[in-house]
Amino acid sequence: MSAHLKQDEPDTANRLDSMKQGVIGKPLSRVEGLAKVTGTAPYAAEYPVDGCAEGVLVTATITRGEIVRIDKDSVLDRPGVIAVIDDERLTTRAAQGTANEAPQQSPQTVCYWGQPIALVVAETFEQARDAAKHLVVEYREEPGAPLFPAEVEAEEQEDETVRQGDLAQAMSTAAHSVDVTYTTKGHASAAMEPHAAIAEWDGEKLTVHASLQMLNYNITELADSLGLEEDKVRLVSRFVGGGFGSKLGISEETVAASLAAMELERPVRVVMSRQQVFQCIMRRSETTQRLRLAADADGRLTGFGHEALVSNLPGETFAEPVLQSSHFLYGADNRELMLNVARIHLMTAGSVRAPGEAVGMPALEGAMDVLAEEVGIDPVELRLRNIPEDDPEEGLPFSSHKLAECLRQGAEAFGWDAGPRKPRMTREGEWWVGTGMASAARVHNVGEAKARVTLKPDGTALVETDMTDIGTGTYTILAQIAGEMLGLDTADVLVDLGDTRHPRGPGSGGSWGASSSGSAVYVACKALREELASRVGVAETELDLANGQVVGGQTLVQLLGGEDLAQEGHYEPGAIEDDFTAAGFGAFFAQVRVNHYTGETRVDRMLGAFGFGRVLNRKTARSQCLGGITWSIGAALTEALEFDPRDGHLVNCDLAEYHVPVHRDVPDLEVIMVEERDPAASPIQAKGIGELGMCGGAAAIANAIYHASGARLFDYPMTPDRVL
Ligand code: MOS
Repeated sequence: MSAHLKQDEPDTANRLDSMKQGVIGKPLSRVEGLAKVTGTAPYAAEYPVDGCAEGVLVTATITRGEIVRIDKDSVLDRPGVIAVIDDERLTTRAAQGTANEAPQQSPQTVCYWGQPIALVVAETFEQARDAAKHLVVEYREEPGAPLFPAEVEAEEQEDETVRQGDLAQAMSTAAHSVDVTYTTKGHASAAMEPHAAIAEWDGEKLTVHASLQMLNYNITELADSLGLEEDKVRLVSRFVGGGFGSKLGISEETVAASLAAMELERPVRVVMSRQQVFQCIMRRSETTQRLRLAADADGRLTGFGHEALVSNLPGETFAEPVLQSSHFLYGADNRELMLNVARIHLMTAGSVRAPGEAVGMPALEGAMDVLAEEVGIDPVELRLRNIPEDDPEEGLPFSSHKLAECLRQGAEAFGWDAGPRKPRMTREGEWWVGTGMASAARVHNVGEAKARVTLKPDGTALVETDMTDIGTGTYTILAQIAGEMLGLDTADVLVDLGDTRHPRGPGSGGSWGASSSGSAVYVACKALREELASRVGVAETELDLANGQVVGGQTLVQLLGGEDLAQEGHYEPGAIEDDFTAAGFGAFFAQVRVNHYTGETRVDRMLGAFGFGRVLNRKTARSQCLGGITWSIGAALTEALEFDPRDGHLVNCDLAEYHVPVHRDVPDLEVIMVEERDPAASPIQAKGIGELGMCGGAAAIANAIYHASGARLFDYPMTPDRVL
């Protein structure tokens, strides 16, 4: 049996608040947490498979050109070597890892340094790695490949362009104006678990354990790459050690392991080295962003301009969506927004941790701080004065909007001093101390999702969907939603995820996972309640379930009478998507100290206040916010991909040289969740939270650096050499 809900209107008949179990929203620990921290949760490369051969990828050592010949004989007699796989399918489909269209690479064409071109398979990993190093490859190199956006003419992404009113006129007549240009460097996703796959082929069907975010989409990608029907492929990703965008799409290790397993008729494991993950998996594009803000004497925006230049490989469809929240965050009648893409030969640019806002918001919110100083008003007050009633471009109402509350509650909890501000007001020894703030905003997305919920004769429930848990808490929140709806303790709800044999969901990405897959579980449970209510002889709305029984009546075990009762929930976003602008909002506050002699910045304390609809689990939601704020510190101070200008190879291709924040860099963080219900965002009234915490936070730090030290910087990350 199945139930379908296409959301065309705000969901006012939502059940979750009137249920009796009381588990929704509770700060429960992740159900798989113990297995993970005790090393008993198998990640992709760890599934026990008998007779598994080991594959190591070989990567290109030219920037652009063609492969003339791969000399397999150069390694086939080395110890343990079984085969060299140089099937053209390896280079035609899988390079991207973006949830977009197929890449334009043709077979045996190299378009960036480090592109995977072959797989060496051997009995042991060491033998495969040794042979991979010795494989002789002949290239025909095409010199002069552009590596930096300044070397080429950029293409305007015309569907991103907005022109309303007359920005130039608004700028020239404004009481106050700001015209500044920011830059951000490329970022790596930097998930802990490297990309890995074990493929098994039984002559007819392929089973692949891999580390992936979006199985529903990944199975199509893999089947297409291999020329198989989808029903001949099964993907399993039960535990994923971080995604951050890098596992939205399949990458070469998954395709290569599959090709090898099919050719050799033996299981094959491929694990990328840390350096390969950095060099082959997509990057976040660097950006250059010009911000133009025109304001009246009171700081009300009359003009808003945001132009961005990003890059990608020739033919790729993805362009870092820098302007995403700029379209609706602040009102102004005269608007000009434009996104340009430069075609260069670095690895594919794709979705990395809050694509768009993670770099767009730090530029916008830095410029807002400059404007606050020009106008001479408190930066919190400047934001409050510019919150639009409705979406300023589309004219649509917001589904819900907690920016003002987040600014106010955040300022109060942080102890924000709204008095007159100027730089270099406080010095403690060799450190300048200052504070800064910024708004947070991130678009809210949802996607079609299916989940099956089965009530078992013993009174427990089973939830099945191909949705993944990439460390975010999916296992736990789906148990909470089902438990709440069915009157069960979460210990009695088994959640089985990450297997394409289950009903399909949208996967984990774009912060849509919880609200989409949670809504599918909700729809299934509502249908189960209908059936139970009819057995009891009451209306569904009158059915009170708690602790495994009808309150004051029969137990679920009795109601089920020895039989399974199953429902598949199918949630689809409907017309409501065209009726509202939906986004999560928030505010960041930071205190930093800047060393007078070395230019080193340390974050003393940081606070984020966020409004993102219903909080499904106060612990996992808070952890998402903490993670986001932590990434904000990286974006502000340390993270930058550095490419060799000679050939575009990535210089800092490991976690020692590419510096993500570590414990030493992260002070006590405070998170305030501004509780709200958003009936238009999803049937469970929740919005995305995964990425909001890094959408603007870097600007709070940048603005604090200025307040502390007087260094007004426009280039992220703000490393000591720039601060001095
Ligand atoms: Mo996210 S960068 O959409 O996984």
